[in-house]
Amino acid sequence: MEDTGQFHLETLAVRAGQERSQFNEHAEALYLTSSFVFESAAQAAARFSGEEAGNVYSRFTNPTVTAFQSRLAALEGAEACVATASGMSAILSLVMGLCSAGDHLVASNGLFGATQQLFSAILPRFGVQTTFVPQTDAAAWAAAIRPETKLFFLETPSNPLTELADIPALVEIAHARGVLVAVDNCFCTPILQRPLDLGADLVVHSATKYIDGQGRVLGGAVAGAKILTDEVLKFLRTAGPTLSAFNAWVLLKGMETLKLRMQAQSASALELARWLEAHPKVARVYYPGLPSHPQHTLALRQQQSGGAIVSFEVKGDRRAAWAVVDHCRLLSITANLGDTKTTITHPASTTHGRVTPEQRAAAGITEGLLRVAVGLEAVNDLMVDLDRGLARV
Ligand SMILES: Cc1ncc(COP(=O)(O)O)c(C=O)c1O
Repeated sequence: MEDTGQFHLETLAVRAGQERSQFNEHAEALYLTSSFVFESAAQAAARFSGEEAGNVYSRFTNPTVTAFQSRLAALEGAEACVATASGMSAILSLVMGLCSAGDHLVASNGLFGATQQLFSAILPRFGVQTTFVPQTDAAAWAAAIRPETKLFFLETPSNPLTELADIPALVEIAHARGVLVAVDNCFCTPILQRPLDLGADLVVHSATKYIDGQGRVLGGAVAGAKILTDEVLKFLRTAGPTLSAFNAWVLLKGMETLKLRMQAQSASALELARWLEAHPKVARVYYPGLPSHPQHTLALRQQQSGGAIVSFEVKGDRRAAWAVVDHCRLLSITANLGDTKTTITHPASTTHGRVTPEQRAAAGITEGLLRVAVGLEAVNDLMVDLDRGLARV
């Protein structure tokens, strides 16, 4: 596919990035090879130096991975994309590629647990400090900027409380001070939200989630202007947190159904959220598609739908929340999300278990909170399953 600009997202999801080999295969080819052969010593030298474009070694060049990168770049409206082994390695590679000791980040205090750990416990050992601010408080983001601030890192909607960051507002604040903006677009995918169109400089993905969509493989990506992703690629080429060709191939297939899945799973999530909100044992529902969500208006403006993650607080503590989890027969008790199979998680004791109680409290992760990642089952079956546990709260 030559010019990707003229096609709709669902077309790009199926077609973009494919380059046929001499065999003219219809489906994307899976290139399971560690290295590539050169025609001469001179060609090897030219490939290694970058003078000649082409594949060298699958730590940093593989045609199946390149197809994945091109397809995701097309979906995000990005000039370039670098694939990584997981979502966390995408975030690490972004920081390692673009930041140096002495640099400072501003990030939301509602970030995914491992991202929060990376920023608060690991990066400071290498001289990169992070100030955490409330996701929804634009003035706090502005006040946190220092002369050495390099990057705003936001995840919107956040995991698990579905808090939204106002991307254009934060971009305006950041760009006025020469600060880059990176958005973790894992919950929405480009089907529901395109951060680069809203002014962000970089998009990060855990492709493990909706892009695969069927809970099979790990993967990640950083997309944006080539001048930025090239720095990420330099780190990846040297350090090697590379996406495998096999996983790239699985993810290419996942992307083909991304739009259908996002639409269907979001529609079920809205139905489930409405039902939970009316449930007598539920204290509060967090879902951007509900008018009760504090940023519902922003969600309508910034996203195509509320997404497929519904979090809710039961009327009770950890025991009550665990009772709901333990009475599920259909919902899978697993921390992954974005699967066609609906999953249920108790964030305080799993995804956010390593975060300090103070950080958890600041992020609003209570003991009664549960997160449901809605899949493709009939929504009534999900209600019956959740109701069994809720009846015991
Ligand atoms: C919002 C978000 N970002 C990043 C990650 C990390 O991705 P991975 O598990 O692929 O490393 C996750 C994983 O759950 C996530 O939910």
